Amino acid sequence: MIVNDVFAKDLFANKTVFVTGGGSGINLGIARNFAALGANIGICGRTQARLDAAAEELRALGARVCAAAADVRKPDALQAAFARSEAELGPMHVLVCGAAGNFPCPAEAMSPNGFKAVVDIDLLGGFHSCRFALDQLKKTRGSVIFISAGQALLPYQAQCHVGAAKAGIDNLMRNLALEWGPYGIRCNSIVPGPIEGTEGFERLLPEAMRDTFLEIIPLRRFGSVDDIGQLAVFLASPLATYITGAVIVADGGQNLPGSGIFAHLLMQAMG
Ligand code: NAP
Ligand code: COA
Repeated sequence: MIVNDVFAKDLFANKTVFVTGGGSGINLGIARNFAALGANIGICGRTQARLDAAAEELRALGARVCAAAADVRKPDALQAAFARSEAELGPMHVLVCGAAGNFPCPAEAMSPNGFKAVVDIDLLGGFHSCRFALDQLKKTRGSVIFISAGQALLPYQAQCHVGAAKAGIDNLMRNLALEWGPYGIRCNSIVPGPIEGTEGFERLLPEAMRDTFLEIIPLRRFGSVDDIGQLAVFLASPLATYITGAVIVADGGQNLPGSGIFAHLLMQAMG
């Protein structure tokens, strides 16, 4: 459930939030939380039909929406999507770098192209997004939110590609916070825990391992997309104007006991 009675309902009125990978899952949940507080929303992804369905949901919350198909690995397509969003909605105040790919695969079975695909989408895609959003963010003294993952903090079984990509993202985030702070631009990362009902959750937590995995999460529940949407709203809000270069974990404590149980359960589930 979107908690939109905590902030003023017009907190992001006349502001534009662009979410890469915003057509589904956590990223769409983030877009919904901003839309509920008056923001205009730009989204991109590879699948126009998925973006159109998401746009309809966001418009129902009152947002003006620009849904432009673009692969974050392709600089020209991404630049065109950002230009269209600026023309239709005005310069972006918040960029959320959420586009990502993931599949469980042990390093010894991973092809070079499999490793590259994930690093290309998450890390290079994240750089492209920031690089091409910079002119707009300078105009608004806006902020960037990267969607990282626990794999950046700890080694996770069958996740070497994601670990490399997400650790790279957090490092990129800190470098940009350093370089772009003087423009008034803040950069932060969110590390979501296991978020129920999402593609990442389905791919990494097969049904058979969920009950046991839940027992090691200190807060004893999986997360929701709104848990992450609310954190993104906070980070972009006037309550967070001195926060930059931070990696903020929203995982119910899931990473605290380590990744051993995940490794054990996943290897069992993968046979
Ligand atoms: P998701 O719904 O599959 O979200 C990924 C989105 O990115 C999709 O809408 C996808 O749309 C888009 N995308 C993929 N490749 C792209 C590309 N090359 N260019 C542009 N868009 C692309 O999965 P999710 O689980 O919600 O994950 C969202 C974010 O949260 C990711 O950054 C993920 O790493 C992170 N995360 C998730 C969890 C979790 O529990 N789910 C935990 C920690 C971190 P198209 O396929 O149409 O392009
Ligand atoms: N196990 C091992 N390797 C895999 C794999 C799997 N489950 N899925 C894909 N790969 C490999 C492919 O075999 C290919 O390598 P190859 O050329 O050596 O055979 C490489 O990854 C690229 O695959 P391809 O399907 O061409 O890439 P893509 O760019 O179309 O898609 C992915 C990118 C692979 C990340 C795809 O899973 C995707 O689109 N994911 C987006 C949604 C998602 O992952 N959501 C969860 C986010 S947490």
